[in-house]
Amino acid sequence: MKLSNQYPSLKGKTVFVSGGGSGIGASLVEAFFQQGTNVAFVDIQQAPAEELVARLRSENPDQTAGLNFYHCDLTEIDQLRATIEQAAQDLGPISVLVNNAANDTRHDFREVTPEQWDKCTAVNLRHQFFAAQAVYPFMKELGGGSIINLGSMSWHAGQGGMPGYTSSKAAIEGLTRGLARDMGPDHIRVNTLVPGWVMTEKQLTHWVTDEALKDIERGQSINDRLMPEHISAMALFLASDDSSMCTAQNFIVDGGWI
Ligand SMILES: NC(=O)c1ccc[n+]([C@@H]2O[C@H](COP(=O)([O-])OP(=O)(O)OC[C@H]3O[C@@H](n4cnc5c(N)ncnc54)[C@H](O)[C@@H]3O)[C@@H](O)[C@H]2O)c1
Repeated sequence: MKLSNQYPSLKGKTVFVSGGGSGIGASLVEAFFQQGTNVAFVDIQQAPAEELVARLRSENPDQTAGLNFYHCDLTEIDQLRATIEQAAQDLGPISVLVNNAANDTRHDFREVTPEQWDKCTAVNLRHQFFAAQAVYPFMKELGGGSIINLGSMSWHAGQGGMPGYTSSKAAIEGLTRGLARDMGPDHIRVNTLVPGWVMTEKQLTHWVTDEALKDIERGQSINDRLMPEHISAMALFLASDDSSMCTAQNFIVDGGWI
């Protein structure tokens, strides 16, 4: 699916996308790059990230915007902070942050240890706060910005089998509203983008069974496949000046899961 909208306010800005090497993140990187936004993205997967950069450069030969991949493990907050500083030096002050990276591994609540719990929240929640903290000075200096935190419909829909993940995703909605209050006076908007069940390659390989497809058919009001581009389309809107009075909200893109 090719996105058709152009947002002039995104041209020439710099966006920082976490977990941009694959899945929804790769679609976000592509969508922003095609807007003429300078894109800095981080991931722990080197090969797919480099392939993405090569593909986007060859498919968009006229695009002059910057596109940089940085290898960074977001669970290491010092690395994350240093990478955000480097990205801003390379591509210009960051005015859009998309906190996208996560890892939805399943875990049995009976067996989770305190160490596993901390690891789970480190990859699903903690970096979102510290990335927001690190981009704040740039956004303040620029007179505004947009922070988009990726949440999840999973816990809204009462999904079990991954309490560390669902707790993190629930906390992100609280984080969004708290930061929106704190940063609002600086015209920095903070929203949660809440995807439903998105048919990324990883989801299709790991979790989408025939039974799951039946659940999707039952759950979604619009029975089409939800794709990464549907999420990116909302992210572009939330990043652009067209959503200038939208903050502290959840924006749900789930095909109407009821
Ligand atoms: N796909 C879905 O159905 C779905 C549903 C609801 C919410 N979401 C949310 O959308 C976002 C993207 O989901 P996705 O399905 O594309 O996820 P994904 O697991 O397919 O991709 C996440 C990316 O983050 C990267 N990453 C993981 N750990 C990292 C680390 N420590 N440091 C740096 N990068 C790391 C991965 O390498 C990967 O490229 C997540 O926040 C997820 O919770 C997805």
